[in-house]
Amino acid sequence: MNSAPVSVRPAKSKQSQSVDAKRLGQSEMLDSNDDRLNRLKIGDTVTAKIYRYDPSKDSAPRYETHQVPYVKWMRVLDVLNYLAEEKDIELAHRWFCGVKKCGTCAVRMNGREVLACWESAEPDMVIEPLRHLPVIRDLVVDRDPYEQKVLQLKPWLQRNEPYRGFPEYLTDREMKLASYALDCISCMACFSACPVIDLGPTTNFAGPAPLVQMAQTALDPRDGMDRGKIAIEQGDVFSCVSCYKCEEVCPAEIPIVSAIIEPLKALAYASNGSGTKHQRAFLDVIKERGRIDPSALVLRTQGLWAVFPIVRAIKLLLRGKINPVRTFFGSHIRTIQQIRALFEEMKGSNK
Ligand code: SF4
Ligand code: SF4
Ligand code: FES
Repeated sequence: MNSAPVSVRPAKSKQSQSVDAKRLGQSEMLDSNDDRLNRLKIGDTVTAKIYRYDPSKDSAPRYETHQVPYVKWMRVLDVLNYLAEEKDIELAHRWFCGVKKCGTCAVRMNGREVLACWESAEPDMVIEPLRHLPVIRDLVVDRDPYEQKVLQLKPWLQRNEPYRGFPEYLTDREMKLASYALDCISCMACFSACPVIDLGPTTNFAGPAPLVQMAQTALDPRDGMDRGKIAIEQGDVFSCVSCYKCEEVCPAEIPIVSAIIEPLKALAYASNGSGTKHQRAFLDVIKERGRIDPSALVLRTQGLWAVFPIVRAIKLLLRGKINPVRTFFGSHIRTIQQIRALFEEMKGSNK
């Protein structure tokens, strides 16, 4: 059985600093792995409220509560295995490696996405399947929508140049971002945690897990496909709101926002497709005026026809939503030079 240790990367790396920052909050809330292990001792009982649902038989999901005798260093997976094997309740759950490698055992425990094989048991637990994927039975979800989305993102290497033979020399620097993506174990925890996926078909956002799969080749220097176009058209990458929920739950500790989504957004921006029109107009307006000007933004992204119908234009004018003088002749804020200097600095840091 695992001791569920906290996995840490080399002490001084940027990544481990951000991971440590997250763990700070956990200790303050008495929610570190050590705290959790100390909450239970041999002889105690774990109360597990488990989501049960068989769509072929049940009209709706229900929860079943079970008591499980605590054993030292008990994980969520040990609780599930005990129920499936000792209590004979025909519980469906998925796992394979038992050591944080295969990504098949992810569930939600007390509202948080966790790997069952790596998470310490709690005295009281509500265990549910991952969100945003159809439930096949109990805690087992259908991974097919995820696999289909990954396929649409074409996660294979399309070389710039012909293969030169083995070994191919690549520097750490060249492979830095792709190698973060290669740490992914496809557990889908991030996909379940992402609030933009909650919005359903109102966006076409692929979600963090498929984008991480795409980044394995999109951020590989040998790749020559127009990934920016795919990131917009198939991934709707600009729908990500950078809330960091995905990073909080990623068991592989991948900096998903800074090392995957932001570089994909940069590729999308550079690809110059129609999908970036709004982002470009937004940045241009800020650079010129130092503030957001909604009417100038609409004018640049949708053209004059968007405000032209006279009734609509009058309504917008009366409500103060448009200001023709400002829209067409654009005043800027007093400190505009500082804003422009920031843009220049950002341009420099992207080289
Ligand atoms: S940062 Fe983006 S991908 Fe990650 S959870 Fe938030 S919206 Fe989803
Ligand atoms: S990015 Fe992290 S959370 Fe998302 S699927 Fe990969 S390993 Fe799991
Ligand atoms: S069983 Fe493989 S990651 Fe948990």
